[in-house]
Amino acid sequence: MSAPVVVLAPLPLVLPRGRERVELQRDHARRAVRESALAISASLGELTKTADDVPLPSNGWFWSLSHSPAHVAGVVSAAPIGVDVEESREARPELVERILGHAELELFAARGEDGFLRTWTAKEALLKEFGLGLQALSCCCILRVDADSLELRFDDLRRTVHQFRFGTTLAAVCSASPERPRFVLHERPLLSRTAEPVA
Ligand SMILES: CC(C)(COP(=O)(O)OP(=O)(O)OC[C@H]1O[C@@H](n2cnc3c(N)ncnc32)[C@H](O)[C@@H]1OP(=O)(O)O)[C@@H](O)C(=O)NCCC(=O)NCCS
Repeated sequence: MSAPVVVLAPLPLVLPRGRERVELQRDHARRAVRESALAISASLGELTKTADDVPLPSNGWFWSLSHSPAHVAGVVSAAPIGVDVEESREARPELVERILGHAELELFAARGEDGFLRTWTAKEALLKEFGLGLQALSCCCILRVDADSLELRFDDLRRTVHQFRFGTTLAAVCSASPERPRFVLHERPLLSRTAEPVA
């Protein structure tokens, strides 16, 4: 089994507004998913989702994507997988409190980190692997913090979330696969290989 390849790319510098912008972000994120499939020679079919927005396996391959204001991320894997990409931001104290528990804050403080973006992206990637929304946030808890990975407990399960920082942006990927994912950062926006309607 090939290790998953997380494809990261910037969005075009000039973006339309409103609905068109959202459509463009979603389209570019799907391009990242297709690039990830190519990287591991996975043959994808249509990219469809459940009524709750959870990606359905395509030709048996699991996929996940994320769009931030300036970047997209996409990944494909033989096992369920979740990815998130976020740009650094000023967080309101109520939000920090909701995302990071006291014990987690201490784990990061011992490393001289605030931990907010790392926790946010890791928990979101984990929840996406399980096809869950933020209602399950309180079931995730960070057990260990390393330079480019975090170990989390979710119910009775353990997960290692791998992270990759570029500039002020952070990407995180979570899966049951024991293989370490590879992060591939494109310098330019991804070109479309096939015209695909966004479902
Ligand atoms: C799934 C969720 C976490 C996605 O959050 P997001 O940061 O807004 O969006 P992202 O760009 O990272 O991801 C969106 C993609 O995730 C996928 N997705 C949506 N719901 C999903 C779910 N339940 N499980 C797995 N994937 C899901 C979709 O493919 C979606 O993109 P699409 O609409 O173009 O198909 C969502 O529940 C949410 O509401 N997030 C709000 C952000 C927040 O408060 N995060 C707290 C950090 S822990």
